[in-house]
Amino acid sequence: MSKIAIMGAMPEEIAPLLEKVENVKKVDYANNSYYEATYKGKELVIAYSKIGKVFSTLTAAMLIEKFGCTKLLFSGVAGAINPELHIGDLIIADKLCQHDLDITIFGHAHGFVPEGAVFVETDTALRDVAKSVASKNELKVIEGTIATGDQFVASNDRKAFISSTFEADALEMEGASVAVVCDALNVPFFVLRAISDTANDDAGMDFDEFMVGSAKISANFILDMVENIE
Ligand code: ADE
Repeated sequence: MSKIAIMGAMPEEIAPLLEKVENVKKVDYANNSYYEATYKGKELVIAYSKIGKVFSTLTAAMLIEKFGCTKLLFSGVAGAINPELHIGDLIIADKLCQHDLDITIFGHAHGFVPEGAVFVETDTALRDVAKSVASKNELKVIEGTIATGDQFVASNDRKAFISSTFEADALEMEGASVAVVCDALNVPFFVLRAISDTANDDAGMDFDEFMVGSAKISANFILDMVENIE
């Protein structure tokens, strides 16, 4: 049976999970707290990393290497690029990229460094679980590209660059780094995000208003998935 890691970036992204899981045991390690727990007979380890690619890389690596997780699910919020995505809507990543990784001066594509890849794909079996949960609950989910970078995007210009360069549907600050870790360690992974803003000039205000509600939508969906993961 899988030991399932569920991670978010911020406390608000894992709080709805911690309210519902059972047998919670907190373990502090590497300047972070990890919550071992069970839910409907499944073994879980839940943590939030803190915001950004570096902290999320550290947490994903610890969940796998120290806590022995064999699958990883990321739950959180994102800014929408695809105009079909509205606040509260869910997106599942089919692939992720780093929009702020830039050595284009040496002739490389945006998001590419030697021995890396522009896009990392998520696990198709976990995506299938998500799609069946969505159809059972009559929820709409969009499957698409998520772009990650160490910046909160609140600019139509930056959003347009990320959209045209990567054909991304949503953006956030952790997914692609978690993807790199899981891909390197051969751990199937999945990234779900509920929209908190549209990364435009009003994104800061929208994020403050909608982040908690959208984080809850994402977390509840993830828990519905857990019981269907072998
Ligand atoms: N997460 C949610 N909204 C975001 C935005 N606009 N930029 C980066 N990360 C986000």
